[in-house]
Amino acid sequence: MVQKVYKTVKVEKENGITWVILNRPEKRNAMSPQLHFEMVDVLVELESDDETRVLVLTGAGDSWCAGQDLKEFFRELDDKPVERRRAEWATHEWRWRSLLTFPKPTIAMVNGYCFGGAFTQLIACDIAIAAEDAIFGLSEINFGIFPGGLVSRVIADAMSYRDALYYSLTGDTFDGKQAAEMRLVTFAVPREKLREETVKLCQKLMEKNPAALRATKEVFKTCRTMDYALAEEYISAKIIALQATDPEKGRNKGIDQFVKEKKYRPGLESYDRDA
Ligand code: ACO
Repeated sequence: MVQKVYKTVKVEKENGITWVILNRPEKRNAMSPQLHFEMVDVLVELESDDETRVLVLTGAGDSWCAGQDLKEFFRELDDKPVERRRAEWATHEWRWRSLLTFPKPTIAMVNGYCFGGAFTQLIACDIAIAAEDAIFGLSEINFGIFPGGLVSRVIADAMSYRDALYYSLTGDTFDGKQAAEMRLVTFAVPREKLREETVKLCQKLMEKNPAALRATKEVFKTCRTMDYALAEEYISAKIIALQATDPEKGRNKGIDQFVKEKKYRPGLESYDRDA
């Protein structure tokens, strides 16, 4: 695949891991319309890129993402309804639709500031690892609005009722350690270990069957809004779909290796994918 060059995003590939780096460090990686359009393109390209087995979303410099660009996304589009609509489409498309349903595991590696609109892509990612001293904030109240886009909705998925209301009403910040305690991120590590721990997690995920990984996240995320009867029906259909489409035939291999060959213990380890 030809590597495209973007102005506001860097894409780096290394041993199955694709690092997608929001790249406006001088603006703390605030999201401009251009960044949104470029990210739409980046994710479309990577969805079917064989070299990308896990995607890590991070930020250049010492900020993850300072939210929407208050100048370029808000102020400068106030009188331009068509451009505003295009930018709104792009911001929703990549941060929610594309990232949420990305066919491979996604990790938010939060290396610094994470404000406002950045909570959308934080929560869309499957797993989030933060530096202990990263700073999070639902700062909208500080400039007279409330968490817009989908933020007010997605924080209800990933924060407790009390935390979501407290932090969106006060605009108080919290750090990576607190974010891990409240389960907004999966875990927090000292900054100097952030990349190393992220790579370790990527390697763990890359040992698993890719078709099963994809189905696992699709089923979990899609079922959350279904009633039980619908979910049961949908899950049954997805199980059959996975068996029919998995190039590795993982289910048969995995069960054979335990039941017939007594080769491994699935409660403690993965089946041998190369057998
Ligand atoms: N929109 C536009 N520009 C921004 C944003 C933003 N969200 N965040 C930072 N910048 C710009 C600043 O205007 C400044 O630009 P300049 O050098 O041209 O003046 C540059 O980035 C550096 O910002 P500083 O404030 O000087 O950097 P500092 O490291 O001191 O502070 C911090 C960083 C805390 C992130 C601060 O910039 C800030 O509070 N930004 C706003 C964060 C926020 O509230 N985001 C929510 C936006 S609303 C939404 O997402 C829906």
